[in-house]
This record gives sequence, C-alpha cells and structure tokens, in this order.
Amino acid sequence: MQTEIVKMLYNERGYVSGQEISDALGVSRQAVNKAVMALRDKGFGISSVTRKGYLLETFPNHLCEEAVKCHLRTKLIGKRMIVLDTVDSTNNYLKKLASDDIEEGMVVVSREQTAGKGRLGRVWQTKKDDGIAFSVLLKPKLAPREIGAITPLAGLAVCKAINDFCKIDSRIKWPNDVIAGKKKLCGILTEMSTDFDRVEYIIPGIGINVSHTSFPEEIAHKATSILLETGRHIDKNLFLATVLNYLEDELMKNYYKLSGQSLGEYQNLCATINRQVTFARGNRKISGMAVRIDSAGELEVMLSNGTVATVNSGEVTVQGIY
Ligand code: BTN
Repeated sequence: MQTEIVKMLYNERGYVSGQEISDALGVSRQAVNKAVMALRDKGFGISSVTRKGYLLETFPNHLCEEAVKCHLRTKLIGKRMIVLDTVDSTNNYLKKLASDDIEEGMVVVSREQTAGKGRLGRVWQTKKDDGIAFSVLLKPKLAPREIGAITPLAGLAVCKAINDFCKIDSRIKWPNDVIAGKKKLCGILTEMSTDFDRVEYIIPGIGINVSHTSFPEEIAHKATSILLETGRHIDKNLFLATVLNYLEDELMKNYYKLSGQSLGEYQNLCATINRQVTFARGNRKISGMAVRIDSAGELEVMLSNGTVATVNSGEVTVQGIY
C-alpha cells in the first residue's frame, strides 16, 4: 500500500485527500494515516494540511523500495524488490532465495555490502550509500549454451541508463564493465545454476559507483564514480529505476539475445573494438586487434597471422584502458 500511496501523491504533484486515497485503495482512513507515518519514517517528506490532504514534498536520499518503484515502468524486473540496509553480498542473498519458488524479476538491493564479490575472485566494496549494489533474478526458458548474451546486455543497459540519466559519454569495456574515459564506473558479476540442459536461474549482480569521492589506492587509477565524472549528486532511487527500466528493455527486446538494434548499439558503445587487446589461452598470452562482437556476446580478435580468435570470457586487457 505504501508504494501505491507514493505513486498517487507523486502523480498528482499536489495535495491528495486522505479520503481519496482510502477510496482508491479500498482501505480505511486510519490505515492511510498509518502508512503515511511509516513513509515519513523511511525518509519521505510528506506534509498534511487539514481539508487539503497530503503533499509529497521530498523523496528519501538513500535507496528505498517505494521510491524506486514509483519510477519503475517494468512488467517483470523489480516488481518484487527487497532493499536492505546491509548484507554480505546481494548475489549471495538472492541465491539463497532463488531455488525457492521466487518468480523471475526479483531484485535485491543493498545500501552496503560487507563482502561484495567481484569477478575472478576479487572484492567489490560498497560502503554505506556510496554505490548502488543490486542483483536480479532471471529464469530464462533457454538452454545453458544460449545465455551468453545476458551479461553483455546488462552492461549495455547500464551504459545507456548512465548516458541518458547523467548526460555523459560512458562506454562498455567488453564484456560488461561500464567505463568513463579510462576508468571503471560499473562492474557485473553473473552467477547461475544450471541443471544439464536447463537454466535454473541466472543472477546478474551489478555494482555502480555513484557517490564515491575517492577509491582505495590499489584501484584509484582505474575507478571512478558518477559524482567524480559529473560533479553532481544524483537521485539514486530515480537512477536505479532508470537502470531497471533499461535492463528489462534490453533483456526482453530479443528475449535475452544480443541481436538487431541492441547488437549495433553495443558495438557503437564498445570501447574495446578497434583496440589492441591481450587475452589468455591456457597459459599463453595472445594479442590482437578487437574487431567485432558477435550475437552470442563473444569478442572476435584479429591475430597477426590473419586468423580470427573468439574470446568468450575471462580477463582481457585493452591497450590504453586497463
Ligand atoms: C566486477 O567488475 O568485478 C564485478 C563487480 C560486481 C559487483 C556487484 S555489486 C552487487 C552484486 N553483489 C556482489 O557481491 N557483487 C555484485
């Protein structure tokens, strides 16, 4: 009910009477009053004036379910959402729920992670309210070999959301880092459970650097934040809703495939293309020119002998980036 009240007040952009809300939601005036008090406790600035009703003046500064949902226009992603104050890792939290009968689209967000995980066993720090850390439960009706495009599609969605929302020119470092200039703004760790020829679930976990003013020394040369890039503090709730809206669009447009318009957009936004890259094959390091991304989300690299190698995961260093 709290989400509905926020939506009503937000859409009205003026006073809404308690009676109008209770009629619309089919609940008592006391229940409306109680829900408004709970929303105030969560940080919503809602004033009330006798005979006029309630007015939504401000949203909370921190991540909050009702505030994100107010701006969501998705059918699936984020319809169910949990916003935590703190957790070890949103991926771990969602994985524990995933095997139960939780429907696709559930989103777990946390204001802080105490043991956030990065790719290749690295750590991903999320200090309270400085970044956005969230995980999404996907249950595509596809075979394990058909899901390779999901993480690149998530990277494309975040990149488009950042560029639209922040008016900057972020790009994708293949397969799914989002970068501004030469520094990382967002990383994605996708975990999954497959059962022979069936995907049980896929969880892309997305970390976006938002309000950081600095980074630990070891990563300071290759990490940046939206605040550092734009000089502006953004509305995290509205921004997260924008990311989730883009994510659903990209995942559903071609049912989890990187094809058509999305493939073209991915190639245009991909900073890896036309650069010299180095990747590992067994214990050998191989270098070549990144030329293309294919519809499975794989990187095609032209080697000096004229052959094309296909790289599908792992660590790739891109000359001039990281
Ligand atoms: C990387 O670039 O190394 C991937 C970073 C992924 C971080 C996100 S934050 C939300 C989710 N929960 C985690 O523990 N990790 C991912």
